[in-house]
Amino acid sequence: MAESMKGLKRTCRCAEVTKADIGKKVTLMGWVQKSRNKGGIIFVDLRDRSGIMQIIFENGPISEEGFEKAAKLRSEFVIAVEGEVMARSGAVNENLATGELEVKAESLRILSEAETPPFPIEEDSKTREELRLKYRYLDLRRPDIQRNLIMRSKVAMLTREFMSKEGFLEIETPMLTKSTPEGARDYLVPSRVHPGSFYALPQSPQLFKQLLMCSGYDRYIQIVKCFRDEDLRADRQPEFTQIDLEMSFVEQDDVIAVNEGFLQRVFKEVLDVDIQLPLPRMTWQDAMDKYGSDKPDVRFGFEIRDISDIAKNCSFKVFKDTVENGGTVRLINVNGYADKFPRKEIDKLGEFVKTYRAKGLAWMKLAADGSMTSSFAKFLSEDEIAAIKERAGAKENDLLFVVADADWQTAAVALGALRCELAKRLGLAKKDDFKLLWVTEFPQFEYSEEENRLVAMHHPFTAPMDEDIPLLDTDPAKVRAKAYDIILNGCELGGGSIRIHDPELQTKMFEALGFTEEKAKEQFGHLITAFSYGAPPHGGLAYGLDRLCMLLAGLDSIRDVIAFPKVQNASDLMMNCPDIVDDKQLDDLSIAVTRVEEEPEA
Ligand code: AMO
Ligand code: AMP
Repeated sequence: MAESMKGLKRTCRCAEVTKADIGKKVTLMGWVQKSRNKGGIIFVDLRDRSGIMQIIFENGPISEEGFEKAAKLRSEFVIAVEGEVMARSGAVNENLATGELEVKAESLRILSEAETPPFPIEEDSKTREELRLKYRYLDLRRPDIQRNLIMRSKVAMLTREFMSKEGFLEIETPMLTKSTPEGARDYLVPSRVHPGSFYALPQSPQLFKQLLMCSGYDRYIQIVKCFRDEDLRADRQPEFTQIDLEMSFVEQDDVIAVNEGFLQRVFKEVLDVDIQLPLPRMTWQDAMDKYGSDKPDVRFGFEIRDISDIAKNCSFKVFKDTVENGGTVRLINVNGYADKFPRKEIDKLGEFVKTYRAKGLAWMKLAADGSMTSSFAKFLSEDEIAAIKERAGAKENDLLFVVADADWQTAAVALGALRCELAKRLGLAKKDDFKLLWVTEFPQFEYSEEENRLVAMHHPFTAPMDEDIPLLDTDPAKVRAKAYDIILNGCELGGGSIRIHDPELQTKMFEALGFTEEKAKEQFGHLITAFSYGAPPHGGLAYGLDRLCMLLAGLDSIRDVIAFPKVQNASDLMMNCPDIVDDKQLDDLSIAVTRVEEEPEA
């Protein structure tokens, strides 16, 4: 039977006890991490969210009856202990904050007994994630996950405090709303009152925050849930959290300045890491050319170089033909690591780049003794080889990888992925090396093969760069946008833009995106109308809070910074949802389900 805690008051958490408390009485409450019975003495590690305190039960300080009770303690029992803080009599535990202390128990109450949990509650759990997520409430007891969520809480608090001082107002926006075009599928919510009609859960509060600017709120911030039905990855969840903000009477530099101050503060307070400002900026074109990615990881080198001019006249057909047909030949230099890649490895990397649509991977290896081997050098003149080496800055023990492709972006992206893969294998992408940068001047549009038309790269409300506005009519693919992403270690932490605030330009943008006038009116009529009643120039940004916390904590998955995350197939293993519902509920909503997928047995 569980005992009551009546009359007991916890004095502090386990790891809040310090050496200054030696000799004092404390009352601690928490979970039994482990218990060791050594005959006349029982050691219990007591755990709460602050950490662990060693409790000693010995006849004398505790009654015989209390000692017998202590002998029954098992892992995950919830107990209350009163006792005296002492310097540790046995070996000091360097790994614990309270490793020099122990509490000699004078009384014990068992507040809750516990079944043996399906897996041990321990740091760096080896238990498979599916099982841990099924019992997430137990998994959440693990100290590492608790640290992650405590850190996340700190980031959220800091955000509110910082932004509030900067004059931002926290304003909530609806969850039951209409589709916003952030590029993913919507989660829909059927309306009972309007049979056959649906709300969409917001992919972001984009339209609302712009309307708030039209209403004069000047600076808006919200820590807000967003919903996107898209394929999940380690850094993507169907529902995730944004730190979403918008500012009036600003240009790109103003938005960037506030956010640099914010990031500097977060890194200092959370990790005690100093971030040098201003952060580097790189245009999208430079990022693609040098790193083959719009989210470049600049913790390591191996930058991409173009050798099309040299390759153009050589006798290697693959290179020559590619350039003659308007394509490019590009390379990276894995400088200083040639000895790490035997021929077999190199061949496997050829398969790797093919998954990025490259047609092949040519290579040149310079050994430490000055000798050279290569898949293509035999077709080249000495001068051409020398020119390539010079372009690549190649020395002994360097390894060049070359991709030729008709499409410059395919060549760039394949080499970009290769440089990241190689850095990962070589251990060059250090998690505690934080490299932030802005990528700017994104293309306004990108071509969607699926839809066979131009779509907005960021979203349709993003303003084009002033000097590119005339290109909207003549060469829309060349239009650059006032859009910017903040990148951390190869991950897109956040993105934003200066918005269009002129109804005429906004209408033109919808036209360029192929919206009919009716469709634009139906979906965004309220925004265009709002603009016609006096709209301030405005712009903003949204961070993925989950991603920010993941990277701050040095983790690989955002599931580890989300209390109750979903798995790959978008289900919640603990709640067992999504789930079928009663026919009555469906009737109320005027919904007939026509197709039910068989769920594979979990
Ligand atoms: P964007 O679509 O770039 O911009 O989203 C902003 C940031 O949100 C995070 N993010 C995600 N995190 C986890 N899971 C997901 N499925 C997911 N999708 C996005 C990323 C991303 O950088 N309204 C605009 C912002 C603006 O223009 O102000 C927007 O939502 O870290
Ligand atoms: P092959 O002539 O197909 O035997 O290829 C000779 C070398 O060129 C091999 O190392 C191929 O991987 C490489 N190669 C083939 N196509 C390309 C390409 N498009 N870009 C770079 N290297 C290529």
